[in-house]
Amino acid sequence: MGVLASGRGSNLQSILDASEAGEIHATVAAVVSDREDAQALDRAAAHDVPHTHVDPEGLTREEHETRLAIFLEEHDVELVCLAGYLRILTSQFLQRFPQRVVNIHPSLLPAFKGLHAQEQALDHGVRITGCTTHIVDEEVDHGPILLQAAVPVHPGDDADTLAARILQKEHEIYPATVELFARDRVHVDGGTVRIEDLDDHGAGKDPSFVWPPT
Ligand code: GRF
Repeated sequence: MGVLASGRGSNLQSILDASEAGEIHATVAAVVSDREDAQALDRAAAHDVPHTHVDPEGLTREEHETRLAIFLEEHDVELVCLAGYLRILTSQFLQRFPQRVVNIHPSLLPAFKGLHAQEQALDHGVRITGCTTHIVDEEVDHGPILLQAAVPVHPGDDADTLAARILQKEHEIYPATVELFARDRVHVDGGTVRIEDLDDHGAGKDPSFVWPPT
């Protein structure tokens, strides 16, 4: 798999750790950032993962994405994970990895798309929010939903405390999502996803879907 990241890279780290622990049957083969100072690049370096910075300055979106795609393809990437990647991808990029570009968003989609999802949740006074992994399409924070985890909003929460609580769950569902692809259990049917076994037998009744794995 390849990871696109613009910043901190804690989700990348959760996937690297799960891979090295043998919890997922996937290897991070390439990390690309649009920002030279992204901490995600340092994390890739620390794990000896091939990584690069592709500066968007002076390039069209398509030119920039083509360079990203070439780097990913050179490293035989089959699944592309967006982890805090702040650019919107065009269909030209998505068509190179059909139904194989995944994103994580810090809300229970379709609520609170876009930036500052945790603040949006607080502004609406919701009592439960969470995080979502989904297949990426041409719309922002849209596309067939893969996994979700719910998180309570506590009295007195601010955007930072809520974000930290959600992030803990992100670090569980992103590696779990990657594992679903590694086991070839994701089937896209129009706008929704069927997860083999999990959806056929019901959540909690599938002994092979335990996270973290025991
Ligand atoms: C996460 O909250 C993720 O849901 C959102 O951007 C943030 C990235 O954090 N898309 P990190 O760079 O993985 O630490």
